[in-house]
Amino acid sequence: MTERSVHQSILTEEIIGLIQPKSGGIYLDGTFGGGGHSHALLEECSPQGKVVAVDRDESVMAFAKPLMERYGRRFEFVVMRYDQVAKLGTSFDGAVLDLGLSSDQLDASGRGFTYGRNEPLDMRFDSTKGQTASQLLSQTNAQELERIFREYGEDRHGGQLARKIASRRKIAPVRTTFDLVAIVGTTEPKVLSKIFQALRIAVNDELTRLKQGLTAVTECLKPGGVLAVISFHSLEDRIVKEFVRNSLEPLTKKPVIATEHEIINNPRARSAKLRAGKKIG
Ligand SMILES: C[S@@+](CC[C@H](N)C(=O)[O-])C[C@H]1O[C@@H](n2cnc3c(N)ncnc32)[C@H](O)[C@@H]1O
Repeated sequence: MTERSVHQSILTEEIIGLIQPKSGGIYLDGTFGGGGHSHALLEECSPQGKVVAVDRDESVMAFAKPLMERYGRRFEFVVMRYDQVAKLGTSFDGAVLDLGLSSDQLDASGRGFTYGRNEPLDMRFDSTKGQTASQLLSQTNAQELERIFREYGEDRHGGQLARKIASRRKIAPVRTTFDLVAIVGTTEPKVLSKIFQALRIAVNDELTRLKQGLTAVTECLKPGGVLAVISFHSLEDRIVKEFVRNSLEPLTKKPVIATEHEIINNPRARSAKLRAGKKIG
């Protein structure tokens, strides 16, 4: 069965402009998601270029099937994290990482990524491994929970929330998104989105993966190959900015942001920042 992704890719033209895919080249999409960036890369590197896409969420395989059918051997999809790409044993002419989660995961995965619907609090990209958000909230001490909310959610009241969770879980586990919303005690989207972001980052160990992934992907680039990365919040952007500045020849002095036109059509693009650099050597 094939499915259609509802995810609208972000900064696609800008990514293509930076990577400049060519026929005969081989490109990595490290965060396949709905496949929009892979599709654009495949079109641009035709007729002979190739795209290898990876994603740690095996459910996105459904969106890879139409590309396999259409592009045959020019397209390959592997379920893996982008920090593991050395296992592919391929050298790439360019790579893209589009961080965070896709609209498909947010809207329809049923994994509790959003405070807007009552779902089990899972939040794992790879639902076959590791601790769910609900388990993390039951098993993590209040001090560590405070760190997660303060650091990953940039929430000054992280301590208060950690204490509320620690006392609530003595009565009953925090199982669902609405359980968590009730504990937070507000319906304010700004507050809730930061708390959900913090938990998701912790559950998926996203910042460690990002640091390791930037190095791993760069090691797989050919000299002169371009790495382009889209981030969605300042914690990610800080890591990407430092990496591009210190380990690559920067191609973006300032982050590239979406045009007003793109933001009107796709509000998720509002917080996107694209940075890119060329592998030296
Ligand atoms: C914003 S979406 C990508 C959207 C995609 N660029 C498109 O055009 O449709 C991010 C994707 O990265 C995946 N992801 C997150 N962390 C990952 C990691 N460490 N390794 C591989 N994939 C990851 C998520 O599962 C999600 O599908």
